[in-house]
Amino acid sequence: MKVLVTGANGMLGQDLCPILQDRGWFVIPTDYNTLDVTDSNAVENKIKEVHPDLIIHCAAYTNVDKAESDYETAYKLNVEAVSNIAKAAAEIDAKMVYISTDYVFEGTKTTPYLPKDEPNPVNLYGKTKYLGELEVQKYSKKFYIVRTSWLYGIYGKNFVETMISLKDNKELKVVDDQVGSPTWTKELIEGIIKLLDMPYGIYHLSGKNETSWYNFAKTIFKLENLNVNLKPCTTDEFPRPAHRPKYSYMINDNNLTLLRDWKEALIDYLKERKMKQNG
Ligand SMILES: NC(=O)c1ccc[n+]([C@@H]2O[C@H](COP(=O)([O-])OP(=O)(O)OC[C@H]3O[C@@H](n4cnc5c(N)ncnc54)[C@H](OP(=O)(O)O)[C@@H]3O)[C@@H](O)[C@H]2O)c1
Repeated sequence: MKVLVTGANGMLGQDLCPILQDRGWFVIPTDYNTLDVTDSNAVENKIKEVHPDLIIHCAAYTNVDKAESDYETAYKLNVEAVSNIAKAAAEIDAKMVYISTDYVFEGTKTTPYLPKDEPNPVNLYGKTKYLGELEVQKYSKKFYIVRTSWLYGIYGKNFVETMISLKDNKELKVVDDQVGSPTWTKELIEGIIKLLDMPYGIYHLSGKNETSWYNFAKTIFKLENLNVNLKPCTTDEFPRPAHRPKYSYMINDNNLTLLRDWKEALIDYLKERKMKQNG
C-alpha cells in the first residue's frame, strides 16, 4: 500500500508515519516545506506524480482560539486545502482519510453524538472543519471522514502535557462542565487502520466512555502520583475566545467500538512518555 500523509510533522502525523512504515506500507510523508496543501497546483502535481493508493490528510489549522480572529487562514487550510486534496484524490481514484473533530457539534445533546447527527459548530474552527467535511463528500467517492476529540500524543502541545507542566501550581482550576472523550494519537491510528477494511463514510474515533476535562486532569495526576491542588470550575469562570460544546461524546452506529476505554489508553501513553523521557 502506498500512502501519502499530509501534515506529517504534526502531532498525529509524527506518530502515524512510523506506524504505517512498520506495517510494511510505503509512506510518503509531506509537510509544509514539501507540500503546501493550500497550493492547488502543487497538490495536484504531487498526487499525480506519487500516485498513492491512500491519502491521509493530517495537515490542518488546529488553533481553536486563534481561529476566531484568523478565520481567513483557518478557512484556507481547513476548507480550501481539503478541497484541493479531495479533488486530486478523486482524479487518481485514491482513497482519502480526512481527520475531523467533535467540535463540529453544537453540544446540546445529552446522549452520545452519532455520525448521522447534524453538525452545528459553535466556533469558527469547528465551522471550517465541518465545511472541510462537505468538500470531501463533494469530490471524493472513496473517503473516510474520521471525527476524533481531545487528541494528545508525544509530539504535540496537548492537555496531558499542559496539566503535567502545571503540577507545581498552588491551585489548578479545570472546567468540569464540558464533557467529551480524550483520544491518544496511537489509538486513533489503530482505529484508522481498522476502518480501511470497512465501508466508506463518516466514523467517530475517540476514546471509549465520556469524561470532563476536570476528571481527565484528575486521572492524569492520579496515574502520575502527583499531589496537585486541583479544583473543578465552570466554563464561565474560564472564558476563552472560542466557545466549546458542553457535550461532545461521540459513538458509532450499531455499537461499533473501534477504540479502547480512554483511561486504558492514557495509562499506556503515560508509560510510553516515561520511557521516552528516560531515553
Ligand atoms: N489536536 C486535537 O485536539 C484535535 C482534536 C480533534 C481533531 N483534530 C484534528 O486532527 C488532525 C491532526 O491534528 P494535530 O493535533 O496533529 O495537528 P497539528 O499538530 O497542528 O499538525 C498539523 C500539521 O499541519 C501542518 N501544516 C500547516 N499548514 C500547512 C500547509 N499549508 N501545508 C502543509 N502542512 C501544513 C502543520 O505544520 P506547522 O506546524 O509547520 O504549521 C502541522 O505539522 C487535524 O485535522 C485536526 O483538526 C485534532
